[in-house]
Amino acid sequence: MTLPATSLAIGVPGSGGWRQQFARPTGVLGEIAGHLMAMRNKQRSWWVLPLLEIHDQDRVLEVGFGSGMDIRRVSEMAVDGHVAGVDHSEVMLKQARRRNQAGIQAGRVDLQLASASRLPYADGSFDKAFSINVAHFWEDALTPVQEMHRVLREGGRIAIAVQPRTQGTNERTAREMGKMLLENLKQAGFQQVRLESKKMKPVSVVCALGVK
Ligand SMILES: C[S@@+](CC[C@H](N)C(=O)[O-])C[C@H]1O[C@@H](n2cnc3c(N)ncnc32)[C@H](O)[C@@H]1O
Repeated sequence: MTLPATSLAIGVPGSGGWRQQFARPTGVLGEIAGHLMAMRNKQRSWWVLPLLEIHDQDRVLEVGFGSGMDIRRVSEMAVDGHVAGVDHSEVMLKQARRRNQAGIQAGRVDLQLASASRLPYADGSFDKAFSINVAHFWEDALTPVQEMHRVLREGGRIAIAVQPRTQGTNERTAREMGKMLLENLKQAGFQQVRLESKKMKPVSVVCALGVK
């Protein structure tokens, strides 16, 4: 599968279908999709999150938090820090808030309904920013990366990981996505850009890393 230059989007249907429920979960099916994410994505998350080198006092942003499991994991890593997240699905916002009730009540976690293309934060607000299995839904994959660059402080780190899972995707799709993620990080102004990958089933995960 060959992908267009700046878009990583791989065949998101306009409406309906399970894939749409992972791109923007809605209703009861969306609720179920969230629980599936919580159950199935643990191994991938535990490979990606250490790549960010999260410290106790870090302010961390997740773009596309889905079930909210990674928000919870990160809030247990940045124990004296702050964790923020955005997702454009109301169903996921409610589910993720339920999973992070303690952190929210303690004022250490803040989750909002927002688009990756328009992050509701001031410039330089975060030390780390990440996104896992969201970038392949972005028709315009550069704007969200530019937004993540804007809200990171100088020296802040980014990680954007994708594990293509749609029917027909394979190792080559993963490699091509990795290349485009790297290109977008460079275009957005990140330095020390590099790609990591990890063999997983059904297809490898690729993760582009960079420093502002
Ligand atoms: C496949 S799920 C992955 C969730 C989680 N990161 C994980 O790995 O389990 C993708 C999530 O990203 C959200 N999302 C997709 N595109 C988005 C966008 N442009 N802005 C905000 N959220 C988005 C979806 O609503 C969904 O919750």
